[in-house]
Amino acid sequence: MAAPESNIPTIFAAYGATGDLMRRKVLPALFYLHQHGELPAMFRVVGFSRRDWSDDEFQGYVRGVLEEHAGKSMRDADVEPFLALFKFQQGTFDDAASYQALKKTFDECDTEWGVCSNKLFYLSVAPEYYNSILHHLSASGLTDPCDPEEGWTRLIVEKPFGMDSGTAKKIDELLGKLFKEEQIYRIDHYLAKEMLQNILTFRFANNLFEIPWGATLIESVRIRVLEKLGVEKRGAFYDSVGALRDVGQNHLLQMLALVTMNHPESFDARVIQKRRAEILEALHPLSENDIKKSTFRAQYEGYREIPGVAPNSQTETYFKICAKLAHPRWRDVPFYMESGKRLGEPLKEIIVTFKHSTPCLCPPGGSHHKNEVIFRMEPREEILIEFWSKKPGFSFLTERREFHYMLRESSARAQYVEEYAKLMLDCIRGDQTLFISTREIHAMWHFVDPIIAAWHTGLVPLSTYTPDTRNVLEESTSIG
Ligand code: BG6
Repeated sequence: MAAPESNIPTIFAAYGATGDLMRRKVLPALFYLHQHGELPAMFRVVGFSRRDWSDDEFQGYVRGVLEEHAGKSMRDADVEPFLALFKFQQGTFDDAASYQALKKTFDECDTEWGVCSNKLFYLSVAPEYYNSILHHLSASGLTDPCDPEEGWTRLIVEKPFGMDSGTAKKIDELLGKLFKEEQIYRIDHYLAKEMLQNILTFRFANNLFEIPWGATLIESVRIRVLEKLGVEKRGAFYDSVGALRDVGQNHLLQMLALVTMNHPESFDARVIQKRRAEILEALHPLSENDIKKSTFRAQYEGYREIPGVAPNSQTETYFKICAKLAHPRWRDVPFYMESGKRLGEPLKEIIVTFKHSTPCLCPPGGSHHKNEVIFRMEPREEILIEFWSKKPGFSFLTERREFHYMLRESSARAQYVEEYAKLMLDCIRGDQTLFISTREIHAMWHFVDPIIAAWHTGLVPLSTYTPDTRNVLEESTSIG
């Protein structure tokens, strides 16, 4: 991993400062970093939005967000030092003068600090505003560093990275025209999950597991993100994307990449991104026939009544897909990726199932011993290794046992906070390991596009399921 850049003066400029992403993800994460003493000593958040607010009003808003998140009011002593970092700049996205005003605010900070600070831009806005904001940012000189040695500028880009390969390419071309790849930090918060970061350590710091890791010994891999949450207040957005675009095209495929990528010769961000991209590019595109046989989709009952959802919506809230990799190491190994909303208690895990050994010391009656390695993120963060052992006693009998490593109970964690805190910090430090490269984005869309297109034609009927049950998992076993 890249060496951490230490305590660098940094301005975090938030476009759409009162937007949903800031409220749900970024503000709680910045507060978490502040509480842990991880923010640079010279740090400022400049909120940019249409509202005619003073710094005080903005700080009052931030306080409200933090209290809503914490579910309680906060003591001044805890929150005031954090709020003091916030400034507000009124402006509109398409007005050049607003960008000059922002520049003035930046300059004031730099004069106060006596340095040329780093600038980190975060867009908490709908993708249709990207074009205007990015052009203005670039044209105003706001994204120019002071000089090559001092004061970097970086941009954080949120998912969705487009709606398909075509739209993703357009965003990329725009970004590519205005910024260099090393300035662009594309977020997939799953990469920052402790357990997923741990997969690389588990595989590459323990030769024990890396040696049999592939088609010779592995029979199948199941990747599942079963959510308790429903669509709640995100009806209109969710209905336009569906489960596969919302979590499949990004989170589940990244999980697949981590579990299958080749050994990076170093732990440098570029090399790891390259390894993930290579394996994602090896995903075998599904033909129409494959899509019929190897994909399943369903919607939970009551979904269509959610505000913003079309009354006759065909959007999936659950999917299961069997993928294969055109890669010698993974020849013919099925990867089952499955995710859905309102499926009862959360279960998020990767199960690696090994082939049974031949000849097998299997118990009589036909059931075969198989080893499993399970990386689980919810309900607990743990790694399980299931194996078979001799049962103590005079007879030669086997029994199933497990090695269990518990990273921690995850129940106490709030959604997104820790992951976003890690990502914000890595962005400040200049470490792109946990961010997605443009190559990965294209490989992921390349796999997902034909499935979505075929689903739109009705090639795979949309099933329904009862919310808060797991019935749909049984129905979808037809594909493995
Ligand atoms: C987001 C999706 O990217 O990931 C949400 O938009 C989903 O629909 C969420 O609920 C799941 O994240 P986590 O960290 O709670 O598993």
